[in-house]
Amino acid sequence: MPERVPLGLLISGRGSNMEAILKAAADPTFPAEPVLVVSNRPDAAGLAIAAARGVPTAVVPHRAYPTREAFEDALDAVLRASGAQLVALAGFMRVLTEGFVARWRGRLLNIHPSLLPKFPGLDTHARVLAAGEEESGATVHLVTGALDAGPILAQARVPVLAGDTPGTLAARVLEAEHRLYPEAIRAFVARGLP
Ligand code: GRF
Repeated sequence: MPERVPLGLLISGRGSNMEAILKAAADPTFPAEPVLVVSNRPDAAGLAIAAARGVPTAVVPHRAYPTREAFEDALDAVLRASGAQLVALAGFMRVLTEGFVARWRGRLLNIHPSLLPKFPGLDTHARVLAAGEEESGATVHLVTGALDAGPILAQARVPVLAGDTPGTLAARVLEAEHRLYPEAIRAFVARGLP
């Protein structure tokens, strides 16, 4: 069995994408091994999910740091200490600076609930519906200094259905996210890390 890539996960809340990745990683053929789940919010529900699966957790509360850079230094330090070689953002709600991104260049992944480059940013599903789109989906991409704009690694498409609300569309997209993110990590690691 080839060695698995140590994987850090960054969350801010519910952590359902993180959970999907931890479930996938329970299969020993999954090429990445979750070594740490970090939340910037102490009350993130995902922390308990990770702990229940035996994955170490850490909280780096952004409010406790005087600057974005100081917060990111602390985040970087816990990730380095964990041995992570690859980092997956999974509902992580802080924008990362170019400085942090540069330290992890090519090793920082994110999932966004739209078919990027369409609908970056927040309130995605409401904006998809307001625009009258016939389909939406999810995108896994490399993180760069520009929000939701890094190179696209994988996408999953779902239909927008008559009568959809932001909530019903979000739920359909989320199911697709849970399949897409683990598969995208698998394919990304298979191509080799930079
Ligand atoms: C997901 O829709 C993800 O694409 C977006 O935030 C949501 C996080 O959900 N970035 P969860 O915390 O993974 O359940």
